[in-house]
Amino acid sequence: MFNEELRLEKPLRWGMIGGGRGSQIGYIHRSAALRDGLFTLVAGAFDIDPERCEDFGTHIGLDKARCYPDYKMMLEEEAKRHDGIQVVSIATPNKFHYEMAKAALEAGLHVICEKPLCFTVAEAETLKTIAEKNKLIIGVTYGYTGYQMIHQARKMIENGDLGDIRIINMSFAHGWHSEEVEKNDPGLKWRVTPEQSGPTYVLGDIGTHALYLAEVMMPELKIEQLMCSRQSFIASRAPLEDNAVVLMNFNNGAVGNLWVSAVNAGAIHEQRIRVVGSKASIEWWDEHPNQLVYEVQGKPKQLLDRGHGYLYHDDMAVTCDRIGCGHAEGLFESWANLYQRYAIAIDAMIGGDKETVENTWFPDIHAGLEGVRFIENCVRSADNGSAWVDYK
Ligand code: NAI
Repeated sequence: MFNEELRLEKPLRWGMIGGGRGSQIGYIHRSAALRDGLFTLVAGAFDIDPERCEDFGTHIGLDKARCYPDYKMMLEEEAKRHDGIQVVSIATPNKFHYEMAKAALEAGLHVICEKPLCFTVAEAETLKTIAEKNKLIIGVTYGYTGYQMIHQARKMIENGDLGDIRIINMSFAHGWHSEEVEKNDPGLKWRVTPEQSGPTYVLGDIGTHALYLAEVMMPELKIEQLMCSRQSFIASRAPLEDNAVVLMNFNNGAVGNLWVSAVNAGAIHEQRIRVVGSKASIEWWDEHPNQLVYEVQGKPKQLLDRGHGYLYHDDMAVTCDRIGCGHAEGLFESWANLYQRYAIAIDAMIGGDKETVENTWFPDIHAGLEGVRFIENCVRSADNGSAWVDYK
């Protein structure tokens, strides 16, 4: 069961860049970080528009003097205070992630950044180097991996319940952008603009989420070759894709496929992962995140449910259970589970407790870096006539 008595000596002083009024993802960051009393929001450069930043910040309870017109001023002014921020979350369009994360790390702040972490592997490596040098944590908000059943799946695979892993079938294929809705939606417009979004749209925006589920479930599995075909069914989105199919060969002989789409008309989310082993398969679907389908060859299908005694007991599958079985948990809890772990790791890093840092699982710089590596390899394949490429 979740331990709500876990407290830091003092909550971490936290700032936000982006995630302002009306943004898609700002509220869930705040909800997750503030949920368990481990962070206090004290400063923000929430918005591209300084006036809106101040208006929004003061309406959510911040001191007007700490609602900054831009992130550079926030880093500068907060560094002068004895009670300045210790950690910053970045929830802006992709274009800014790298420069903001780099500046924050150079200012000695821990960073929690949205995905995709940056545009290139070289940039991600730079962030990693600065973080290591300055003894700082980088967390990346792959928000679905705080779900308990993802960790139950990992444990089942590790324990050999599925046998040898053969096939990994992944999708994140919604239909919300089947038409050119970006004409009237700034939150989508930047996603289909290369300068703002990076080298991909759906591959980076949602494909990296599905891939990271597989990475969490099977940390030993590595992609060896990959082939990617991408399309812009809404022509004005070219060169960015609104649909893509990726085939993968893994190091253990397993194969995988990922379908990622924003034009899967009629579908809500369709983020699914099915892992097929030599004895059994499991399947998880983010629209029903409290369940995991478990199918053993020759036996009736089983539906494993969050919070039950039959789950593995030694990991996140149980320690993150906040309400017991029979009551629905959802994305807010999943994110709060991640923010709790960011807090534990940051606090341990501040206190020089290397062991806790190393033993606390959370989506970290490696998660961010591998997402960017995947995007780079997909683009290399797709732009080379969808050729198979060795994974670099
Ligand atoms: P959005 O367009 O809805 O909101 C962006 C926010 O950032 C706005 O408040 C805007 O004013 C602010 N902003 C833009 N430029 C800024 C700057 N230079 N300085 C300060 N604030 C600035 O975007 P959305 O959908 O919230 O996405 C933000 C990031 O979160 C993206 O990187 C996206 O990929 C990621 N995201 C992650 C999700 C997840 O599940 N982890 C889900 C949705 C988005």
